[in-house]
Amino acid sequence: MQLRVLGSAAGGGFPQWNCNCPNCDGLRRGTLKAQARTQSSIAVSANGQDWLLVNASPDVLAQIRANPELQPARAVRDSGIACVLLMDAQIDHVTGLLMLRERGSPLPLLATPEVLSDIGEGFPLTRILSHYCGTEALLLQPDGSLQTVPGLPGLAVRPIALSSKPPPYSPFRHCPRPGDNIGLLIENPDNGARVFYAPGLGEVTPELLDLMAQCQIVLVDGTFWTEDEMQRLGLSKKSAAEMGHLPQSGPQGMISQLDRLPPGVRKILIHINNTNPILQEDSAERSLLAEHGIEVAWDGMDLVF
Ligand code: MLT
Ligand code: MN
Ligand code: ZN
Repeated sequence: MQLRVLGSAAGGGFPQWNCNCPNCDGLRRGTLKAQARTQSSIAVSANGQDWLLVNASPDVLAQIRANPELQPARAVRDSGIACVLLMDAQIDHVTGLLMLRERGSPLPLLATPEVLSDIGEGFPLTRILSHYCGTEALLLQPDGSLQTVPGLPGLAVRPIALSSKPPPYSPFRHCPRPGDNIGLLIENPDNGARVFYAPGLGEVTPELLDLMAQCQIVLVDGTFWTEDEMQRLGLSKKSAAEMGHLPQSGPQGMISQLDRLPPGVRKILIHINNTNPILQEDSAERSLLAEHGIEVAWDGMDLVF
């Protein structure tokens, strides 16, 4: 089983178009030891030809160009993307659906009822796409049960309801429901190996920690270093918690949660906001992660399990 990180940044990407925070400005000037990153998405394949796209980022076209494996060229019009799965209805995870409209047949779309309602109403992507290729909605139940993926026989996933937040445009922003946000256990049926993927994670519950402990790799929310990162830089009034993200630092932060996993579990942060000091490869924060055995995902990173 192969997992390719297509985009490892949070919404806005790195550098963000209108941002002159120390990271974005430093990257543009070439004074920062860091790599540019596109917005949050991964692709998973059992055979290296047919892929499940997990989240459709606004950068999906650039990501397809940067990853030629997603274009197997079996016909005059073709794509390796057999199906799209959405983990939430945030703009950085769904807007790329519009870029896939030239398909010749309806796009198979796996999502929870909550996510499908947000992208059918608040941000009516499926209604718009009905005038192009159309979508074939397939309901995901975020109850941890094993679910097959249409068109991808070697692949099975277990969606898990998470505590986080639906997008700002959702009528449920201030009263989140299970299903607004999911984590995904991706399993290799041949060897039983598992990856847990959760780019938006507001809380690590004891149940979730148990589940993560049974994985070979966890690929989790790396959005913010501190709870008040955006506020301190004067970029937003919102805290990490208000945005549904658990920061890395602090006594209950992601680092201390990941420290509780057994030594064999590979720990990787993804969905990194452009303000996060871990993007700077020679920063003290990045060294601290390394001391805790935590890696930082990058665009093009491959995980085989
Ligand atoms: C989030 O997950 O909070 C997003 O990256 C926000 C956004 O896309 O604007
Ligand atoms: Mn996001
Ligand atoms: Zn920035």
